[in-house]
Amino acid sequence: MLSATTKETIRATLPAVGAAIGDITTLFYRRMFAAEPGLERDLFNRGNQQQGGQQKALAGAIAAFAALQLEPDQARVDLILSRIANKHASLGIQPAQYVIVHKYLFEAIAEVLGDAVTTEVAAAWDELYWLMAETLIAMESGLYQAADVADGHVWRQVRVRERRNESDDAVSFVLTSLDDTALPTFSPGQYLSVGVHLEDGARQIRQYSLSSAPSSGDWRVTVKRVDAHTLPDGSATPPGEVSNFLYRNLFEGDVLDVTTPFGDLVLQDDDAPLLLISAGIGCTPIIGMLGHLAETADPRSISVIHADRAPSSHAHRAELAELVDRLPFAVMHRWYEDLGARRPEDGLREGRADLGDITVADGTRAYLCGPLPFMLGVREALLDKGIAPDNIHYEVFGPDHLAPARS
Ligand SMILES: Cc1cc2nc3c(=O)[nH]c(=O)nc-3n(C[C@H](O)[C@H](O)[C@H](O)COP(=O)(O)OP(=O)(O)OC[C@H]3O[C@@H](n4cnc5c(N)ncnc54)[C@H](O)[C@@H]3O)c2cc1C
Ligand code: HEM
Repeated sequence: MLSATTKETIRATLPAVGAAIGDITTLFYRRMFAAEPGLERDLFNRGNQQQGGQQKALAGAIAAFAALQLEPDQARVDLILSRIANKHASLGIQPAQYVIVHKYLFEAIAEVLGDAVTTEVAAAWDELYWLMAETLIAMESGLYQAADVADGHVWRQVRVRERRNESDDAVSFVLTSLDDTALPTFSPGQYLSVGVHLEDGARQIRQYSLSSAPSSGDWRVTVKRVDAHTLPDGSATPPGEVSNFLYRNLFEGDVLDVTTPFGDLVLQDDDAPLLLISAGIGCTPIIGMLGHLAETADPRSISVIHADRAPSSHAHRAELAELVDRLPFAVMHRWYEDLGARRPEDGLREGRADLGDITVADGTRAYLCGPLPFMLGVREALLDKGIAPDNIHYEVFGPDHLAPARS
């Protein structure tokens, strides 16, 4: 907990710091990477840095954490920090690295805010930083312990047992241990990090959700190749670095660097009716969850909703239908923007997903994964249908700058 004086200083300076936090985090990363280029090359996701997503996520998290010290809401603090701690654990972040981040963050704060940073102001934000850092360090240590690894030692090598096309641009890889010993188990919905050495010498890391059920013993990930595309302003974006690397270079028998699974989008341990909603490659954690529910012959009412561009781009399309068939009380609704020559039928429609006629039982828990605009729309629709905000769980396939902003 912060001291009373610190709280008052944070209260007085939060508007100014909050207004400048975007500039502060941008400058922070620039300074840190100039001094420690290895961090940008080998640890941070340089695609997120180019797009500004990570700067926004860090800014949002710090501002929200500060505001939550003034108007406490422990559930929100836990939600924000759990997301970060899981991501950090999946990257093997260690306590000593918090000192490095502190150094460059506070240099950036001093440079952006100038004379406004008096000794008293600096001390108050310092206390806040360490409160946040120490809470994260403790959570990460708990995650490492639960995964039975020493702090930060999350990497291992696995072998690709099988590679399979899952759609016109997604491919799955079944991963197995090098020595045929069992891989650690995981909770359906979790992800692992994959590290690859790219042609320019960088070692870039990305996360991929497990699309298999824990009972299979193997880990399966499904990777969608991210193509270059043209933005509405006419500028072009480059092809995704790691997804294309994996798509082009990873085949049966190859060895891959991955981490132990982490992630907090996991099926809660209760018997609430379920709504599993995905779009595009966001199907992966949902397929993992469904695989687990089918294996355990779960007797709950389960509605599965998936939206995609077309049947040809729908990864795990046949597997989804097969898993729903195996569940006694599950129904499936699919929307494709382009159905091709197929005709709409019960549960299969053309256009964008519309939850209008989906009925929702009391106490339903919803699990969402897909592009941000899709999830925002779905979340609004679910709130309108009376689902409690705490019962809506989601995964973002990138830096989550929404968690801190969510009401
Ligand atoms: C928890 C989690 C789970 C995930 N699960 C999955 C999964 O199951 N399957 C899956 O396929 N993906 C998943 N992802 C996404 C995955 O981690 C990668 O983000 C994805 O594969 C793209 O990585 P990349 O290296 O190919 O693209 P990057 O090189 O990181 O590029 C990402 C985007 O940024 C754009 N970009 C890069 N540089 C610039 C620039 N200079 N200017 C403008 N735009 C730029 C690229 O064009 C591209 O659109 C998950 C992510 C998270 C966080
Ligand atoms: C109090 C200190 C810190 C805060 C508040 C913080 C906050 C965050 C946030 C909000 C994210 C995005 C999480 C998501 O949405 O998935 C993140 C990711 C990350 N953090 Fe931290 N972090 C801190 C310390 C550190 C430290 C010490 C390191 C190690 C150098 C580190 C390395 C990373 C990396 C590599 C990512 C993933 C970046 C990406 O994928 O683009 N963080 N952190």
